[in-house]
Amino acid sequence: MSAPITLSQLSEQLEHLEAEAARSIEAAATAAELEELRVGLLGKKGRLSGVLGAMGKLSAEERPLVGQRANVLKEQVQSLLTARLDAVQEAAMAAKIASETLDVTATSSYVRPGHRHPLISTTEEIVDIFAGLGYEVSEGPEIETDYYNFTALNIPPHHPARDMQDTFYLEDGRLLRTHTSPVQIRYLESNPPPVRIVAPGRVYRRDAVDATHSPVFHQVEVLAIDEGLDFSHLRGTVMAFLKAFFGDLPVRFRASYFPFTEPSAEVDVQWRGRWLEVMGCGMVDPAVLEGLGLDPERWSGFAAGLGVERFCMVRHGIDDIRRLYTSDLRFLEQF
Ligand code: DAH
Repeated sequence: MSAPITLSQLSEQLEHLEAEAARSIEAAATAAELEELRVGLLGKKGRLSGVLGAMGKLSAEERPLVGQRANVLKEQVQSLLTARLDAVQEAAMAAKIASETLDVTATSSYVRPGHRHPLISTTEEIVDIFAGLGYEVSEGPEIETDYYNFTALNIPPHHPARDMQDTFYLEDGRLLRTHTSPVQIRYLESNPPPVRIVAPGRVYRRDAVDATHSPVFHQVEVLAIDEGLDFSHLRGTVMAFLKAFFGDLPVRFRASYFPFTEPSAEVDVQWRGRWLEVMGCGMVDPAVLEGLGLDPERWSGFAAGLGVERFCMVRHGIDDIRRLYTSDLRFLEQF
């Protein structure tokens, strides 16, 4: 027989249980922990049932007192559990919201988007206009032979352009092309007419650098060979192109001379009150066609060489060619 239990002992146990329950409920951090506590405290086999099991040992007068006390405790624990559960769930929701919030003011790792250099976009614009007129794009090498750069273009042996003063020669006798015109020859060698091409590219001359000269610059070559082409086709094409590029700037054709065209012309546009040369052009010289095995009685055509830097400078109001080559981001960012 276990020792008989007294009323005061039972009351003490209940008080103890109450204090302990309050402490552990306060310490619980999750709904699952609280549920575990509820079962442990108030469940059928829980701590409270354990204490009440000993009630039978009390007198009939004492029992209701303990019963009442137990009921109050049960309700207290229950409401502590509910309040704590609310608090725990609220905290969980707040944490979830905080973790999912997008802070639109946070600094980001911004990567500057790159964009095209104005010389590239100008070249693309020129090429696009000719593409719209049915021209295809072709390219040639920047290191050329004397044959393609000069001889095949009817440039005589003692022409000043062949001078060491004007052309960069390599040790093996090859050279850096001084214009994009050799692409005319390369293309016609492997593509029988009719042809319509544009050839954009970089060219080199032994020029000292100043506001309008650079030893490296860019051209777009134009070539059309067909039956029955004459100077009116050249003029019409050039005018259509210039109107598409510049709008309505005044244009003039000036008679000129190039060994590979006859007749030849230079084209100026009026800009800021001055005439500015933007291209050389002409009817392809019969001697050039003959050199390629083409019959000049049947085939004729026109060619032009456009200075990309000039087009770019007029388009963007740039006063000094050097700005296009110095890679100053403060300048380039404007385009
Ligand atoms: N190749 C010449 C130069 O660089 C420009 C030129 C003139 C190209 C007349 C042509 C042309 O195709 O027909 O100065």
